[in-house]
Amino acid sequence: MTEFEMIAKTFQGLEEILAKELIDLGANGVAIGNRMVSFKGDKALMYKANFHLRTAIRILKPFLHFKADSADDVYEICRKVEWEKYMDLSDSFAVDSVVYSEDFRHSKFVAYRVKDAIADYFRDKYGKRPNVSVANPDLTFHIHISHDDCSLSLDSSGESLHKRGYRQEAMEAPLNEVLAAGMILMSGWDGKCDFVDPMCGSGTIPIEAALIARNMAPGLFRSHFAFEKWKDFDRDLFEEIYNDDSQEREFEFTIKGYDKDPKAILTAMRNAKAAGLLDTIQFEQRDFKDFEPVKERTVIITNPPYGERLVEENLLGLYEMIGERLKHALIGGEAWIISYHYECFDKIGLKPSAKIPLFNGALPCELRKYEIFDGRYNEFRGGDRRLKKDDVPTRRSGTLRHKARLAEREEARKTEKPFRKSSEERKPFRKSEEGKPFRKSEGGKPFHKSEGGKPFHKSEGKKPFRKTEKKPFRNNKK
Ligand SMILES: C[S@@+](CC[C@H](N)C(=O)[O-])C[C@H]1O[C@@H](n2cnc3c(N)ncnc32)[C@H](O)[C@@H]1O
Repeated sequence: MTEFEMIAKTFQGLEEILAKELIDLGANGVAIGNRMVSFKGDKALMYKANFHLRTAIRILKPFLHFKADSADDVYEICRKVEWEKYMDLSDSFAVDSVVYSEDFRHSKFVAYRVKDAIADYFRDKYGKRPNVSVANPDLTFHIHISHDDCSLSLDSSGESLHKRGYRQEAMEAPLNEVLAAGMILMSGWDGKCDFVDPMCGSGTIPIEAALIARNMAPGLFRSHFAFEKWKDFDRDLFEEIYNDDSQEREFEFTIKGYDKDPKAILTAMRNAKAAGLLDTIQFEQRDFKDFEPVKERTVIITNPPYGERLVEENLLGLYEMIGERLKHALIGGEAWIISYHYECFDKIGLKPSAKIPLFNGALPCELRKYEIFDGRYNEFRGGDRRLKKDDVPTRRSGTLRHKARLAEREEARKTEKPFRKSSEERKPFRKSEEGKPFRKSEGGKPFHKSEGGKPFHKSEGKKPFRKTEKKPFRNNKK
């Protein structure tokens, strides 16, 4: 199959982990950009990228690069595109735009001009124009402009890939699934020891951890990817990818999700049930202050309240308690905590061994790693290996935007401007409407590497996926 260029978009701070995921998936020419990773691959890789990547929010397929310095130029060039290659007159469409250019002040206006160009192209040729649909388009085009460099792409994902499809309900301030998965992958936890989120809210972190532990594709629960409506959609190829569960694995350790709020635990359990992971995660209503010392090596990854969206009576006291529990109950383990305020981190009272800048929505946050040793940390490090304050590894914070926001907060802190203290069974993966793929319930051939190092499917001897009127299900491999 021929290779083409693709762009995987992500959140700031997750680019490196996304690049690694892409390399593991067999992508070529992987290059890291700002909130995106470009790569090359064939149609199978495009389907796999949508289905398997945990830290991508969308996969674009650029099909035209050109120079323009006005919206009218863009219109003229877009009028000349042979749009029938990508869509029919009966398809509805939308156009998104991202513009970093002084020549194009209004990104929405550029999007309107691309829409006009598509509509006028069809009207001139066929006397009719396709419909624009903002809510549920058959196809979405993206125009990206940087200075005078423009590229037009097709969006192969549709709804953002963080919408895995297992979330039935959310509590307040749920963590984005892509960010949760990125934090887990960054921690290096790969299912080889116990895992706890002691403030799990709607369960996003434990559910993403369970998907990683069992190596289950995050796209399993989605009902649709945009590429399924493309003219060149290869249903057999996608079914083969969708039905292959040969890389899934058993998980021998425990994943626990606690929260002091009983409603959060109910919500988390509903979400885990929808992902068919209720047997993999143990949820329990429990205050973190009652967290008991772990007996086995344990990794904690958690997203406590920041006092921004969630009201917390005694926010600093909460963080003090977190530090105290980590120190006494997580001996030999490590904790990764994402938070927003320095004051909160300070209250933990432990020295982080890593600080990683990440955005949680618009909030510039930090993910800090705490390694809990038996005895004083400095004593453990000992002699020359003793960490000084400045030695604490901090990941490249990446962008000036993050640095500027952190500096602003530091300034506010110095002037003592207070931060805001606020007062059982797996859900069927796919609809079984005729022709829709669903997971094969048995077996599956392992991946084999081709000479070029790219994984491909060996289809010989593969059992055909089950076509049935019944609801699809997967075997539980128990
Ligand atoms: C920011 S939310 C977590 C959101 C979660 N990551 C999600 O995706 O839904 C913080 C959670 O901490 C819980 N929490 C606050 N104090 C707690 C405590 N002392 N013990 C356990 N949970 C606590 C809250 O009930 C809330 O659900």
